[in-house]
Amino acid sequence: MKKTWFITGASRGLGFEIAKAALRAGDQVVAAGRNKAAVANKLGPDSGQLHSVELDVTDANQARAAVAAAIARFGGIDVLVNNAGYGHLGLFEETTIKDVEEQFDTNLFGVFHVTWAALPYMRSARRGRIFNISSLAGILGAELGSLYCASKFALEGFSESLAKEIAPFDISVTIVEPGPFRTDFLTAQSLRSGANAVADYDDRRAQLRAGLEERDGRQGGDPAKLADAMVLLANEAQPPLRLVAGSIAFNAADAKLHSMRTELDLWRALSISTDGNYDDVVVPRY
Ligand SMILES: NC(=O)c1ccc[n+]([C@@H]2O[C@H](COP(=O)([O-])OP(=O)(O)OC[C@H]3O[C@@H](n4cnc5c(N)ncnc54)[C@H](OP(=O)(O)O)[C@@H]3O)[C@@H](O)[C@H]2O)c1
Repeated sequence: MKKTWFITGASRGLGFEIAKAALRAGDQVVAAGRNKAAVANKLGPDSGQLHSVELDVTDANQARAAVAAAIARFGGIDVLVNNAGYGHLGLFEETTIKDVEEQFDTNLFGVFHVTWAALPYMRSARRGRIFNISSLAGILGAELGSLYCASKFALEGFSESLAKEIAPFDISVTIVEPGPFRTDFLTAQSLRSGANAVADYDDRRAQLRAGLEERDGRQGGDPAKLADAMVLLANEAQPPLRLVAGSIAFNAADAKLHSMRTELDLWRALSISTDGNYDDVVVPRY
């Protein structure tokens, strides 16, 4: 059955590829971007299959208007893709609260704005799928990742909780966790970092930034292939809660699970020793 997709950050990178893949599959696409003309430039003019809307995800009013435009055009949203995001990759001590607020405004609160706007329609239709684009950075902390990882870890907790709340309405949530993919993510156009240089970090900062520059344009993941995988999942009867994307992310997630398991086992006795001597404990449902 033909689906209607609503995709944020469709002007470039992964969002653009997801829009193209959904169009190739014969679906209808509402392509949302901060600059509608840029989206139309990349994907083409509005048609029977495509409708572009202006949306900076940090703006709640614009999110409501963009979703309303999608409903007016295609009558509903079957697949919501919260993709818009960027990486603030900098050393924590060199960042400011403004950097933190901006990172969360886009990567987390932006997802909230769009999800709040879309959910009432999806809930009343009693069906739908939500893809939240997290990252390997939502599984694993890394140097330069304090702000970006914090925003993606938060997105993971949000998504996992939301999945449980909306499952009774036949709406699924899939958290997509890509490793490095070949988009604009590491370019100067997308990447941000802190401006308050702390001399103690000079050498490491230089090394870490050189590493980012070296990786830019040489990432292992193909965004077009991930987009096709998401189209496949959108048609899966039982979509997964998580899809780790790319072998780099797969291996790193595997190693993290292994080290968590080892540490959990190692400290099991101390963990359990903090239980109280109560006989009226109510265990929460997880
Ligand atoms: N590429 C990777 O290695 C990688 C790995 C893991 C996760 N991810 C995640 O994948 C998602 C897409 O990133 P990408 O790799 O495709 O990077 P990208 O090529 O830099 O594209 C980022 C997209 O997000 C949009 N965007 C940024 N801030 C926005 C805002 N406030 N409102 C609306 N749109 C906004 C950009 O729009 P403009 O054109 O207007 O700037 C652009 O369309 C992000 O959530 C990112 O965290 C990427």
